[in-house]
Amino acid sequence: MSRPRIFVTRRIPEAGLTRLRASFEVVVNPDDRPLTTEELHRGVADADAVVGLLTDRIDAAFFDAAPNLKGYANYAVGYDNIDVAEATRRGIPVSNTPDVLTMATAELAWALLFAVARRVVETDAVMRSGAWTGWGPLQFIGADVSGRTLGIVGAGRIGTAMARMSAGFNMRVLYTSSSSRNEELERDLGARRVEFDELLRESDFISIHTPLRPSTRHLFNADAFRLMKNTAILINTGRGPVIREDDLVAALRAGEIGGAGLDVYEMEPRMAEGLKDCPNTVLLPHIGSATHSTRDNMALLAAENIEAMLAGTRPPTILNPEVLK
Ligand code: DGY
Repeated sequence: MSRPRIFVTRRIPEAGLTRLRASFEVVVNPDDRPLTTEELHRGVADADAVVGLLTDRIDAAFFDAAPNLKGYANYAVGYDNIDVAEATRRGIPVSNTPDVLTMATAELAWALLFAVARRVVETDAVMRSGAWTGWGPLQFIGADVSGRTLGIVGAGRIGTAMARMSAGFNMRVLYTSSSSRNEELERDLGARRVEFDELLRESDFISIHTPLRPSTRHLFNADAFRLMKNTAILINTGRGPVIREDDLVAALRAGEIGGAGLDVYEMEPRMAEGLKDCPNTVLLPHIGSATHSTRDNMALLAAENIEAMLAGTRPPTILNPEVLK
């Protein structure tokens, strides 16, 4: 009997591919680049299951192109690229990769926060250019972090981890959450759940961890920037479209906010016109989960989900458990 066929839309770490190859015939996109929609649809035509990326659109047209599909595993925790309702209508299980990337992403949010607050990238460039003339009392002065107020937008797994890491800096923590209160943060850090506007007004640092949904698209827009302190620093390691990037550029240029550290962008891989020239920004290429062990664990978790989908058992991180009989 022939083995089920798994299509992997872009090369992922070997740990996951090896695990998949133990039970399945595995076909991997040979080029290290995202597939066009046409290529994706051609690739999945005879697939029993697919491992895909946040750059792949998993919608009705995708499912139409994959008539044998019994499961789809996203190699990402964010799943705004998947039409989960459509998958559910068709009885197809879909999964993501939560937990395994929580600490790596929260750590990167801190790396951005400190890099912007203490002007790390800008001053590194000064050293490399040979322009530094020696220590000076008025040079390169940045922002304090310890004792300041940290606003967490979306206190889920990653937001909670980021907030917890603030304990060493003795920060006051505010958070917003669209679901329930975060009792862990309230108990352990004395964090306070507030309305979005209060978080904007009060925070010295704001870190975005909310998923992208219709209600969070462009949550950070000109109105939000007007409410923020003009010294506040905005960090985004979640999804780019939560920020209206043209408005961010305008706010940075006008000095309405103090700076921004971004790992994600509204129209990846492009940035809004002018963003790269804005002062007090650190701009990274979507590397929140990019540590060796995290990327390996994401690949293993995706493989585990595929195994369960094809065995008819419960995938460990299924997004639509209602499809299971
Ligand atoms: C995710 O998992 O959603 C990140 O954006 C990439 O690891």
